[in-house]
Amino acid sequence: MPVRSVLRMGHPLLRQVASPVTGFGTPELRALVADMDDTMRALDGAGLAAPQIGISLRVVIFEVSRNPRYPDAEEVPYTVLVNPVLEPLGDELEDGWEGCLSVPGMRGLVPRYKRLRYHGSDIEGRPIDREVEGFHARVVQHEVDHLDGVLYPIRIRDLRDFGFTDAVLPSGAPTAPD
Ligand code: NI
Repeated sequence: MPVRSVLRMGHPLLRQVASPVTGFGTPELRALVADMDDTMRALDGAGLAAPQIGISLRVVIFEVSRNPRYPDAEEVPYTVLVNPVLEPLGDELEDGWEGCLSVPGMRGLVPRYKRLRYHGSDIEGRPIDREVEGFHARVVQHEVDHLDGVLYPIRIRDLRDFGFTDAVLPSGAPTAPD
C-alpha cells in the first residue's frame, strides 16, 4: 500500500467535520487503514487521522513505541479507532507540547484533558472502550480533533508557545513526535 501525501494546514479538508463510517471490515476500509499505517510509519508520526490523507471519514490510528530518545514519552499501543467518542473524566487539564504531520516543523503547547474514556470500534466493528490518561489521552484528543476539523494551533492558549521545533525546544527535550 502506498505512502500518501499528508494535507497541510490551510487545506479545506482539514477544516471539515468527517463522516461516520457505516460499513466495517470492507476492502475500502482495510485499504484506507493500510495507507494510513504506511504513511504514519514512513513519517515517524505518533498518529494520523483519515482526513489528513484526504479521506473525510471518522478513522484515526495511533501508536507510540518506547523510544530511548524520549524516555518520558509513555508507550501507547497501536490502535485503529473508528467512529471515536471521547468523554473527559474530570476537568483537569494538562499542558504538553504537540506537533502534527499537517503542521510540519512546528510545536505548540496545548492544554488537554488529563484523563478520559474513549470508545468506538476497530476495523471489524468490534467495540473498543478504554480509560486512559497522560500522553495516551493527549494523542487521542489530538487525533479526534482532526475529525472535527480542528488542528492543535487553535487550542494553544498563548501563541508565544508556538514555534519552530528547533527554536522552541531545547535539544534533547522530550516531545511528542510530529
Ligand atoms: Ni495531527
